[in-house]
Amino acid sequence: MAKARNSVFFCQNCGFESAKWMGQCPACREWNTFAEEPVAKSSPSRGGAAVRRDPNAAVPTQLTKVVPEDKVRTGTGIGELDRVLGGGLVAGSLILVGGDPGIGKSTLLLQVCRNLSARGQKILYVSGEESLQQIRMRADRMGSFGDDLLLLCETNLDTIREAIETVRPAAVVVDSIQTMYNEAVTSAPGSVSQVRETTGILMQIAKGSGITIFIVGHVTKEGVVAGPRVLEHMVDTVLYFEGDRNASYRILRGVKNRFGSTNEIGVFEMGEEGLKEVPNPSEFMLSGRPENASGSVVACAMEGTRPVLVEVQALATRSGMAYPRRTVDGPDLNRVNLLLAVLDKRVHMSFSEMDVYVNIAGGIRIREPSVDLAIVMALISGARDRVVSDKTIAFGEVGLGGEVRAVSMAKQRVMEAKKLGFDTVIMPQVNLKSVGKVENMRLVGIRNVKELQF
Ligand code: TYD
Ligand code: MG
Repeated sequence: MAKARNSVFFCQNCGFESAKWMGQCPACREWNTFAEEPVAKSSPSRGGAAVRRDPNAAVPTQLTKVVPEDKVRTGTGIGELDRVLGGGLVAGSLILVGGDPGIGKSTLLLQVCRNLSARGQKILYVSGEESLQQIRMRADRMGSFGDDLLLLCETNLDTIREAIETVRPAAVVVDSIQTMYNEAVTSAPGSVSQVRETTGILMQIAKGSGITIFIVGHVTKEGVVAGPRVLEHMVDTVLYFEGDRNASYRILRGVKNRFGSTNEIGVFEMGEEGLKEVPNPSEFMLSGRPENASGSVVACAMEGTRPVLVEVQALATRSGMAYPRRTVDGPDLNRVNLLLAVLDKRVHMSFSEMDVYVNIAGGIRIREPSVDLAIVMALISGARDRVVSDKTIAFGEVGLGGEVRAVSMAKQRVMEAKKLGFDTVIMPQVNLKSVGKVENMRLVGIRNVKELQF
């Protein structure tokens, strides 16, 4: 089959560009994600900056002469979202909200629209996915709305741009970027070139007129539609919804933020009337914890500035396979493999003929090494069938020698455990001094996992 010469292949997961089709993407290692797209026609939004000669912008400026801008932030009326945004919305910013279909992106943004419009701000909600009636039905579940929220069901970017120019809203929601198209680009809506081009134009609108724009991006598994990852570098702020769609809680995580810190999380619960904030995530994450069960240990991880208690569960069963199974949900798989090797070498507990499962209950993803100690304890507790008291928590990073290393913000972690009624903390010996004495709490410092007594 003769191919048109002016087409390229894009990885729909990460946006990697290639002249030929490939089975596996060399950049993000995903399989079967390449799709052919016609080469995008050059438009002023692309590469224009290098050609433009703006006499004012082209002069290098001394750093010390730059006047710092005082960014005014508008609260969204949703505390957990403001926390992830770094204190509220910055005018003229472009915010990408990603997540699996059905996780609650449209619901959250409609709630934001309601709160902003209730304060008399004009808000435009553009949907390419749902009809006006469907949005009304969703809104009716959430409560009453004012007259300043305008809806537009449209996918053509030119029409949307005109609507923004006439309405002059304070904020716009574009739901979702994968349904939008720009006529200047020949490829289909949802393709890498189309979503990039559309995002570029929305960026110009946001920066040019100081309108805050939310973009919804579905995370897709099939690789037929470009995922939000291809847009991460273009926008100011990237927020992802995590969590099991079947469970009721949702975690909103900031992974990029030009106007604040990242790695703050917001915790929500999906209810009958939309998303509810969960102000005390620890309580929520520990609800439903089994009592006196082996293989279960509570850890304390820091999520941004906030300590969150989570339950680590481990289960090891005899394996019938040459390569035993290692399944994790929550912690990092490589980290669990490393901890299994440490246990083998330093404690002489071998899992080489066992299938091992390690979960963090609640589906929260934790990448912080401070959960190491709890993982190790859960593995030992599960394998030996010895129960760790349910009033005990553990935190500490475990090194290759089995040594338990210091973690940051030990005091906050201990106080969070105290607040939730725990009485014993197993923690790195080196952190004991910085924590000092805490009333009604037994702090047990350990230097090496060999000291763990079961
Ligand atoms: P939605 O926000 O449309 O997800 P997304 O835009 O990320 O695809 O839908 C979230 C799910 O939550 C949907 O299956 C319906 C459900 N839901 C509730 O349980 N309660 C509610 O009040 C609303 C509005 C939705
Ligand atoms: Mg939606």
